[in-house]
Amino acid sequence: TEIKVFAPATVANVVCGFDVLGFAVNAPGDEVVMRLVEEPGVRLLKITGDDGKLPLNSDKNTVSASVKHYLAHIGREDVGVEIELHKKMPIGSGLGSSSASTVAGLYAINQLMGNLLTAKELVPFAMKGEEIACGYGHADNVAPAIMGGFVLVRSYEPLDVISLPVPQGMYAAIVYPEVDVPTKDARQMIRAKVQLKDAVTQWGNVAGLVSGLFLNDLDLVGRSMKDVLVEPTRSILIPDFEVLRKLAMENGAVGFGISGSGPSVFALTKDEESAKLITKAQQMHLHQINIQSQAYVSEV
Ligand code: HSE
Repeated sequence: TEIKVFAPATVANVVCGFDVLGFAVNAPGDEVVMRLVEEPGVRLLKITGDDGKLPLNSDKNTVSASVKHYLAHIGREDVGVEIELHKKMPIGSGLGSSSASTVAGLYAINQLMGNLLTAKELVPFAMKGEEIACGYGHADNVAPAIMGGFVLVRSYEPLDVISLPVPQGMYAAIVYPEVDVPTKDARQMIRAKVQLKDAVTQWGNVAGLVSGLFLNDLDLVGRSMKDVLVEPTRSILIPDFEVLRKLAMENGAVGFGISGSGPSVFALTKDEESAKLITKAQQMHLHQINIQSQAYVSEV
């Protein structure tokens, strides 16, 4: 038996919700091909599209490592699995690249084993993959990659993951400036302590954003997309961040910010047309300052 699974890119944090909010897009994403074989053990046969950047060692690669973890959990370490990973999105882009691979792998093995776990129950296994990829098992990429749509990670211990409604006609305009920002480094640079007044601003915005989703009020979502805790530090790593913001807002964004730990940036819009205008303007600017970029427009 063989199965082919696609899992999507995700935008984590959604500006104000560091480690607690994320949403999935339609594309790009990664693909995993998996088959059951006689010989026990999990083998990662090949990876394409990664320019040799990812480990083939089945304990170090997030896909095979989380599949092993899953099989141990269900008590089926006798099972033989062969995996091919086809990377179809950039690595280290802030678009949940490792999550997309891990989630595709977990979804595949769960299907092959007869759907023993629900999508929500797969989240902790995917978090293990994040721990391997960037040193911390955050869930704001993996949860939306598995569950789709917008997701809130209300609590990590115990894990409490909630699907949020997505307003009609909401689009994401994503631009990936091809500069290097490893998630591990981008996490280390954040201040560990916050001022009470900043915390007040932040939780007001998180609640505002979630309210906006429930009220179908994209303007409220947009004006809640403010981050006084993480963005001031991380935005320094992104070329002309404030120019990119200006171009987004001028072309119809309701809000703009860093996708995950960057360097990708994203804007939310009320229609596809604005999203296309935004990516076009931002890519043109990045081109002018000699930075290569990739762009994606997707309904959320
Ligand atoms: N919440 C994580 C971070 C997402 O910002 O480090 C990483 O993509």
